[in-house]
Amino acid sequence: MDNRKELILQMNKFIGDLHIFKTKLHNFHWNLVGEQFFVLHPMLDEIMAEVDLQIDSVAERLLMKKERPFASLDVYLKHTILQELESKAYNSREAVSAIHEDFKLLLTEINIILKLGETLDDQETLALITDIGALYQKHIWMFGAWLA
Ligand SMILES: [Fe+2]
Repeated sequence: MDNRKELILQMNKFIGDLHIFKTKLHNFHWNLVGEQFFVLHPMLDEIMAEVDLQIDSVAERLLMKKERPFASLDVYLKHTILQELESKAYNSREAVSAIHEDFKLLLTEINIILKLGETLDDQETLALITDIGALYQKHIWMFGAWLA
């Protein structure tokens, strides 16, 4: 597969990852228990809003490149690197730790996209994905600080 096709596939896989991630964030948003509820429950709303914007931005970037974004749950599940979780009660440490791990996995996916984008000198995709990666690095730092 050439680098352009590989880049398109990786961007599409990332869209799938983000859909699974959003479902997991909902899971924690709903099933959270414990004293941190009133802090973490609304905070997860904010992260879901960010993820929604990221999904849309990456999909629209694919369209600008005359490609089609993945747009089916079945396809997302086939390509994602994230693992779905059952619907059950999660305490704050379980939720924050799982989200922290997912952000780290998503960042590895982002780094693959950036490497491919660089080979193609695709500056607009690089700018978009770099911004998302920088935000994830911030979340990884903050979630890590919370867990420490
Ligand atoms: Fe809600």
